[in-house]
Amino acid sequence: MAKAKNIYFCQECGYESAKWMGQCPGCKSWNSFVEEPVVKTGGSSGSGGSRNSASVKPTRLSEVSLKTDERVFTDITELDRVLGGGIVRGSLVLVGGDPGIGKSTLLLQMCKTLAEKKKSVLYISGEESLQQIKMRADRLGAFREDIMMLCETNLDTIGDVVRKYQPEIVIIDSIQTMFKEDISAAPGSVSQVRESTNVLMQMAKGLGISIFIVGHVTKEGVVAGPRVLEHMVDTVLYFEGDRHASYRLLRAVKNRFGSTNEIGVFEMRSEGLVQVPNPSEYMLNGRPEGASGSVVSCAMEGTRPILVEIQALVCHTNFNMPRRTAAGTDYNRVNLLMAVLEKRLGMKLDSCDAYVNIAGGMRLNEPAIDLAIVCAIISSYKNFEISGKTIIFGEVGLTGEVRAVNMVEQRVMEAKKLGFSVCIVPQVNLKSLQKVDGIAVIGVSTVMDIMKYLK
Ligand SMILES: Nc1ncnc2c1ncn2[C@@H]1O[C@H](COP(=O)(O)OP(=O)(O)OP(=O)(O)O)[C@@H](O)[C@H]1O
Ligand SMILES: [Mg+2]
Repeated sequence: MAKAKNIYFCQECGYESAKWMGQCPGCKSWNSFVEEPVVKTGGSSGSGGSRNSASVKPTRLSEVSLKTDERVFTDITELDRVLGGGIVRGSLVLVGGDPGIGKSTLLLQMCKTLAEKKKSVLYISGEESLQQIKMRADRLGAFREDIMMLCETNLDTIGDVVRKYQPEIVIIDSIQTMFKEDISAAPGSVSQVRESTNVLMQMAKGLGISIFIVGHVTKEGVVAGPRVLEHMVDTVLYFEGDRHASYRLLRAVKNRFGSTNEIGVFEMRSEGLVQVPNPSEYMLNGRPEGASGSVVSCAMEGTRPILVEIQALVCHTNFNMPRRTAAGTDYNRVNLLMAVLEKRLGMKLDSCDAYVNIAGGMRLNEPAIDLAIVCAIISSYKNFEISGKTIIFGEVGLTGEVRAVNMVEQRVMEAKKLGFSVCIVPQVNLKSLQKVDGIAVIGVSTVMDIMKYLK
């Protein structure tokens, strides 16, 4: 018989305590403890109940055989890449993202392509009715094959259905609506989310089914529920993007079967999510011509170079404290670069407001865009235009030196592909760079040098 006991959980990070506390010692958030009953079921941890140690024996690594169908390709290239090369059999994937960003759309589209490959797919929704899913499916285009649908939130029922119909891929939309009967806490609470994920994990590993779980995110942007949720699953994907821009980025923050450096780029259209195979072109769309304060740079997202436009606006301030904002990049980094400009180039930026923006709503924290930010600020401050055919990248140090960046060749090739004719790179990178036809590569070693190449 299960024994019920009450424990206090931090709703932010899942910290457990036997008594209530005002501040969580784990994540330092205030007033986040809630009381929840915990049911120790014994068997689920694998340590209790009917254990038969005599028949358990370890397996040699060489005896473990891999089947050729261990990975299933979804045929959505951007998604396959982020997953590390298709869906691994028996894996548990968590897809988090802001409300309305397109999580359900992405997974339904994945179901569509998988169904076309004759895979059996079960889509379980706890949030929407079958009619609503049908409406979305109609919007996404004709579903040639039928996929199985279920509106259910009880995990015990879901377990029975999955065992009966044996689908290869299951979608759970969303984990916050699922509940287990023997836990009295409300769906979405820490203990329900954790136990539900546990059940799904055992289902995935035990039956060899790949399960995708949709997770809501908190206002801080992390998946709601205990942090341990991210530890339990094999892969954590975040679907993000500007609510107002139509493009969406799919990013892996944890992946047991592949790199976490890859991103997938999609565009939300009325017919659903469309892949963007060449994001650079997309990011540079609508770039102003002949305007000061606009510079194109190249950032790496995983192994992929992406060209972005960096804009700066520097104008006289009306306040004692000048205003500085950085949209899409690190605010402190922008302040640091402006301090370098004041000290090394003698620019009087203390009487100026400065706004830096990565156009297109992209978020970048790569130091390689430093030099482009610096050039955009200089260009706006001195009010001259930097040629639209020039691309600039390099890290800037505190003494004003331009430091090396990685993967220069890929960046230069991407610039060439999109028709740029001049590439300003760190001098130290020139040594390792092969000559590229059709694009002039200029090396700079300090920000003091750069002025002569800009005009
Ligand atoms: N007709 C349409 N044309 C263009 N975009 C649409 C259309 N209908 C829906 N969308 C887009 O799809 C988004 C909703 O997608 P979806 O329901 O997949 O998001 P979600 O992440 O699952 O949201 P939730 O958190 O509510 O489950 C909307 O925010 C909107 O951007
Ligand atoms: Mg949804």
